[in-house]
Amino acid sequence: MKLKGQHLLSVKDINLDLINELFDVADKMRPYAQRQKVTRVLEGALLGNMFFEPSTRTRVSFGCAFNLLGGEVRETTGLSNSALAKGESLFDTAQVLSGYSDIIAMRHPDAGSVAEFSQGSRVPVINGGDGPNEHPTQALLDLFTVHKELARLNKDISDLSLTLLGDLKHGRTVHSLCQLLGLYKGLKIQLISPQALEMPSKYVDILTNAGHEVVIGHKLEEGLPQANIIYQTRIQEERFASQEEANRYRGYFRLNKQVYSDHCQPGAVIMHPLPRDSRNEANELDNDLNAEPGLAIFRQTDNGILVRMALFACILGVEDQVARYERPVNWYAGLSNEPK
Ligand code: CP
Repeated sequence: MKLKGQHLLSVKDINLDLINELFDVADKMRPYAQRQKVTRVLEGALLGNMFFEPSTRTRVSFGCAFNLLGGEVRETTGLSNSALAKGESLFDTAQVLSGYSDIIAMRHPDAGSVAEFSQGSRVPVINGGDGPNEHPTQALLDLFTVHKELARLNKDISDLSLTLLGDLKHGRTVHSLCQLLGLYKGLKIQLISPQALEMPSKYVDILTNAGHEVVIGHKLEEGLPQANIIYQTRIQEERFASQEEANRYRGYFRLNKQVYSDHCQPGAVIMHPLPRDSRNEANELDNDLNAEPGLAIFRQTDNGILVRMALFACILGVEDQVARYERPVNWYAGLSNEPK
């Protein structure tokens, strides 16, 4: 596969053939992710998991995905805990860390920083999010989830009517997702945000140039009735010039059971890259939706493991050897691993 030995810095590096191959590999990872079997295909390999910005699921799922393939993980978290805080350059840091790792996953608050880091790296680098710029692995797991959720509704990608909701200006997950959606043709996409937080025009252009039917709106209800998948996002308060400015938008769009039953199609899928802001004043995706079968947010996070395992396997060139290094599990692997 063309990913072997490559960096994954941007979804611009990805085409449709590659996505289809990657998703086939991700499907094959399910028995290992669900602990029905163990594979040691990456035994002896080291992942440098370098997170210079807060993260729960991306950092931990990169680590879990690598461990599930039999590899080991070394981590750095937070800029202040690294020598970057002493003025070391990204190039030097990359030269050093790539001597300790077979592959590196990295998140950093500055746009372009992971690409800069990759120039000093002697091993493949995966972008785990660079400021407001991109989050390619999230976009891949989101697209994988879109395919799976549509299949659950007996539909396919050509039936997609997707509403992206919230802070579309700063949300790197939706920026990356729009670029992947630009690889398809003739979809229906609704972009609903506060006026000041609209999707940047370069991403709208990608969607319209692909021939998608694109609607831009500023009211929550405008984007809900026609959608079979709703993708809610958090107000990215860390990207605003001031907390006061961010506070203006907190709680602007609240998706709850009442709104869902009044305005959404029955069974409409709800996605969110997470974390959701569950504070009272925000509550952008209410807990009263937790029992709703359409709520796909935790299926989405589970899919993150499959897609990241597939990426590691493909980039390190072992995607055809995973089953050769498998054995049964020795322990009780019960309820927690059942697909939701
Ligand atoms: N979706 C996502 O990137 O979550 P984390 O910030 O917890 O990694």
